[in-house]
Amino acid sequence: MVEFRLPPNSRPTKGQSHAAPAGAKQPVRFEIYRYDPDAGGNPRIDVFEIDLAACGPMVLDALIKIKNEIDATLTFRRSCREGICGSCAMNIDGTNTLACTKPIEEVKGTVRVYPLPHMAVVKDLVPDLNHVYAQLASIEPWLKADSPPPAGRERLQSPEERAKLDGIYECILCFCCSTSCPSYWWNSDKYLGPAVLLQAYRWLVDSRDEATGERLDDLEDPFRLYRCHTIMNCTKTCPKGLNPAKAIAETKKMIQARRG
Ligand code: SF4
Ligand code: SF4
Ligand code: FES
Repeated sequence: MVEFRLPPNSRPTKGQSHAAPAGAKQPVRFEIYRYDPDAGGNPRIDVFEIDLAACGPMVLDALIKIKNEIDATLTFRRSCREGICGSCAMNIDGTNTLACTKPIEEVKGTVRVYPLPHMAVVKDLVPDLNHVYAQLASIEPWLKADSPPPAGRERLQSPEERAKLDGIYECILCFCCSTSCPSYWWNSDKYLGPAVLLQAYRWLVDSRDEATGERLDDLEDPFRLYRCHTIMNCTKTCPKGLNPAKAIAETKKMIQARRG
């Protein structure tokens, strides 16, 4: 059943406040979601004021500065700090995006930082991705081919065949799209969501893959695929500029086409 309000034990309370350092030239206020499963209790919103003049330009720079200089317990994922690994996905200023490529100066006023929405929270800004990774594994995201490759060489593609993967292979599995999708919020137990469906499409259009029929059989389901109602939040939020909604629409067309 759809619930529009957070359960009482998930509603954030007022947390700690850390004022800007004396003499800060460019103070900026951050409000950051905190949740510590070991401490128990409700999540809280902590306030950190930092001096932008003494910080790198991206939201991730600010989080690292806060962790290094103010509160070492602040917990978040990051690795590449250049929009490639997908691990720093979070909700910033109301939009799911990558902290490492989101300029602080793009946010007007207070910078509000929350974990990706509608996921269980492991700690602070770290969502639990176990379920979505299990969904990814369920579409078997690897090349499936019974015929052997040409003797002594790899399976080749023409430039046209390879071009079909453009706009898909760039997906970094940050899950900004799936966690912005209302259908996924309400039905993530059965609906695969845009990130996983984009991956499924990536193998459907790979000229070297020989399991297209089997893959379509697996997707042809009122929940796994057809919970997408073309709301387009996914495409709007993707920090890599990809279009998972189009991939889903193309998958539906492939299923339609084989029905004849
Ligand atoms: S287009 Fe489909 S997958 Fe994308 S946000 Fe809408 S319902 Fe979700
Ligand atoms: S499609 Fe975009 S938003 Fe979705 S997982 Fe891939 S990179 Fe992230
Ligand atoms: S740290 Fe890798 S995408 Fe942000």
